[in-house]
Amino acid sequence: MKDEQGSQSFDPYRSIDQNLNSGDAINRWLLLRPRQRIVQLLKGQRILDVCCGTGNMTEMLVAARCQVVGIDSSRTMLSHARQKHIAAEFKQMDATQLPFNQEFDAAVISIALHEMLPQVREKVWESMQRAVLSNGRLIALDFAVPERNSLMSRFASRLIEQDERETLNYHPEHYENFQEFMRNGGLISWLYKQDQPLEEEYCFWGGTLAVVVTGQSVSDRDSRTTSTEEQSK
Ligand SMILES: C[S@@+](CC[C@H](N)C(=O)[O-])C[C@H]1O[C@@H](n2cnc3c(N)ncnc32)[C@H](O)[C@@H]1O
Repeated sequence: MKDEQGSQSFDPYRSIDQNLNSGDAINRWLLLRPRQRIVQLLKGQRILDVCCGTGNMTEMLVAARCQVVGIDSSRTMLSHARQKHIAAEFKQMDATQLPFNQEFDAAVISIALHEMLPQVREKVWESMQRAVLSNGRLIALDFAVPERNSLMSRFASRLIEQDERETLNYHPEHYENFQEFMRNGGLISWLYKQDQPLEEEYCFWGGTLAVVVTGQSVSDRDSRTTSTEEQSK
């Protein structure tokens, strides 16, 4: 398969092209509340949606009058995003090598960091830092390790584990990377290691999903706010 730059690239999502529409419905339901939180924080801004996939996050940002550029390496995922006729620009790009320099108010990455190798994850984050203005924000939504064991956290963890296990059928590295990500404490632990202040944290589904807002300096790391916003079933 040729990508938009005309070179060959492996697209793990190609083999599940036919299933992406049904997967999309679950994705929208599970991630509705975390995405609504992100949209509230970013209304009307210029946003880079990194690893935008089929454009579910992009669509909600556009509805909140954001100007959005969505990038993803998968031609399959981008073709689904484009079929939705969202008023955003979609580009096929590797998120480790974003060509943007201080062009966005914020960069968002939703449900993508966990599937990457640790060194790729770090490069993506650095690339996102370069893409935003000096006072710009980076926002990540991804899987987290619950602080407390509850009925909701057990239910959601099982759902997530089952869904991630499916990736063994078409992209085993995805599942291995997910396991490594969770073993090391999930999104919040990973972001702590990136030497950036975590300004706001929001937890969903019993703490199994988190939205974290980071700023650009390390000075006020301890001034962050934490909140739990349970998704109603
Ligand atoms: C599970 S999907 C999530 C998509 C979307 N952000 C969402 O919230 O539904 C993860 C996406 O990350 C993309 N991705 C993974 N590694 C990437 C990389 N290095 N550069 C660009 N996209 C990447 C995949 O192609 C896939 O579309």
